[in-house]
Amino acid sequence: MALNGLLDIELSVPNPSETFDFWIRRGMTRTSSDVLGTADRPVQITVKEGPYRHLSKLHMSCETEADLATLSARLADVGVAASVSGTTLSCVDPVFGHAIVIDVGAPHPLVPPQRRSFNGPGERIRTTERADAVVGQTPPAPRRVGHVVLATPMFKQSADFYVNTLGFRVSDRMFKGALTFMRVESDHHNLLIQPGPTSYLNHYAVEVDDIDAVGQSGTAVLAENPSANVVGVGRHNLGSNVFWYLTDPAGNMFEFFSDMDQIVDDAEWDRVHRRDDWEGADGPAGFSVWGPKDPPEAFLNPPDVKQIAAAREALGLR
Ligand SMILES: [Fe+2]
Repeated sequence: MALNGLLDIELSVPNPSETFDFWIRRGMTRTSSDVLGTADRPVQITVKEGPYRHLSKLHMSCETEADLATLSARLADVGVAASVSGTTLSCVDPVFGHAIVIDVGAPHPLVPPQRRSFNGPGERIRTTERADAVVGQTPPAPRRVGHVVLATPMFKQSADFYVNTLGFRVSDRMFKGALTFMRVESDHHNLLIQPGPTSYLNHYAVEVDDIDAVGQSGTAVLAENPSANVVGVGRHNLGSNVFWYLTDPAGNMFEFFSDMDQIVDDAEWDRVHRRDDWEGADGPAGFSVWGPKDPPEAFLNPPDVKQIAAAREALGLR
């Protein structure tokens, strides 16, 4: 039984056209009136209207039709109703309330970025020409949605659901399992569940070509809206990715990232690298190896989190 891909996400926000247009300006493509794509993947972010900002759908893939039957049985075991229609399974996340849709298939492969020439000591590769980032002032377009981070007071219950019911593979855990980094692809994480004051979307992450693209993309967002900055640029410890966190017009935090750890040998990762308690004897894995050492308050406690909690309560969601 194996999930094998994060295909796309759906965001619900009070003013969808603002967020839709924001990503068009970042270089995403308009696949339909509410669906944003990238060059390789025509469906990456669907933006719907909703009473408060939240993740409303997580769309994933699995290897075989037999996986759908296995998943249905596991979901039934934990009291989550699932329906299977053809090669599609649908259910509702028991903590957050978003739709989970799983199709038999796999993410469409990405065309590798154009190789950039970086000089180094004793390594003169880019000669008698300026750097690509200097010549190409327009940020390269985003390539895909790579992961989402969800926060909730019920973080243990939620992580248990994704790991033990849906079969996500754990890459690392921090603070006695309070934070669970997990994957369905080779990325160090396609999903992170962490504690939060209510159940909300902490951020979604968009992969760009490289560190220059992270810098150029973030700079372009700030040129439009200087108050969109949250934290960056830096390189995370867990996942090793270069990051820059900003906010979209709906107030969702998102991350431009590049160069994440790719785990292609699960057994080797588990044997050599995986840690299930990063606050152990070797010390905690901090927020970054370079760049800002600690995230700001808004990173873990966004200014609208009380509004989100109230909106969820009004809808009968925990
Ligand atoms: Fe992230």
